Parts: sequence; C-alpha cells; structure tokens
Amino acid sequence: MGDFVSDIKRIREHARQHMDRGAVTDGYKADRKRVIDVLNEVLATEIVCVLRYKRHYFMARGVHAESVKQEFSRHATEEQEHADWVAERIIQLGGAPDFDPEGLARRSHSEYAEGEDLQSMIREDLVAERIAIESYSEIVRWLANDDPTTRRIVEDILKVEEEHADDMANLLDRMALS
Ligand SMILES: [Fe+2]
Ligand SMILES: [Fe+2]
Repeated sequence: MGDFVSDIKRIREHARQHMDRGAVTDGYKADRKRVIDVLNEVLATEIVCVLRYKRHYFMARGVHAESVKQEFSRHATEEQEHADWVAERIIQLGGAPDFDPEGLARRSHSEYAEGEDLQSMIREDLVAERIAIESYSEIVRWLANDDPTTRRIVEDILKVEEEHADDMANLLDRMALS
C-alpha cells in the first residue's frame, strides 16, 4: 500500500495551486473555452426568447388573447430563468456572460420574430422553440461525458423547451378548432 499521507499532501498542494480555476479541476475533460462560447450562444438564445415572449405578451389581441397571454408571460419568466442558469455556469467555468445587446440577435440560435396576429405569434414561438430543441440536443450530445454538469443544465433547459413547444402546438390546435 502506498503512502496515504503523502497523497493527501499532493492533493492539498494541488488544490491550492489552482485556486484561480474555481470549480474547474484537472478532472474537467471538455474544451473549456469552447464550452463558454457555446454557452454564450445559449444565453443569447434565451434572452431573445424572453424578448419575443414579452413582446407577444403585450401585443396579444383578440378573442383568445387572455389565456394565451398568460402562457406567453409564463414562458418569458422561464426563459429568463434559463438565461440565469447559463450565466451562472459560465461564471463557474471561469468565463464571462455576454449580455451585450449589440450582436445579440446574431449570437442567438433562434430568431426574434414579432408576428402579426395571435396565430402568427404562436407559430413564431413554436419555430423558435423547435430551433432551441434541435441545437440544445446537439450541445448535449457534444458535451457527452466531458462536462456532465453543463450537460445536465442544458438537459434541464431542453426539457422545458419541449414543454414550451408542446404548449404552443396545443394553442395552435385549439385556435384552429374554434
Ligand atoms: Fe429557454
Ligand atoms: Fe422556450
């Protein structure tokens, strides 16, 4: 059996040497800089989603508007939550969350589409959710076991985006029936 005391000493020394790396240890397998860049794209996507749902919330008019408005509002709140989780993770990885409004739409995966009537707003939201689902699924596959914590965060967001897409699809169905 090896000398246990000297091992602990090494771990202690090691932990002190790399304090500036915060939560990132030598066990971290991913390309940290690339993960931060990708997370900043996710952050932009979430912020654009907040803005789009907010706009739709305030602009919703028509017979179905009241119930639909509540969905828009709830989604805006949840997208903001996602943006916060992502910004928090960027910090843990030693990066800086990019909140610069300049270039926001370019960094975002989904588009900011205003829509004209209630139906086209819901359709644009569904499209945006489907883009997020597709790109976040790719990120989850890419991260695999190299950064399980970031992967879990993106998976948690992905789950909610699938619920959002389902909500929007159901609203479209309900409007088509009435
Ligand atoms: Fe989201
Ligand atoms: Fe969403």
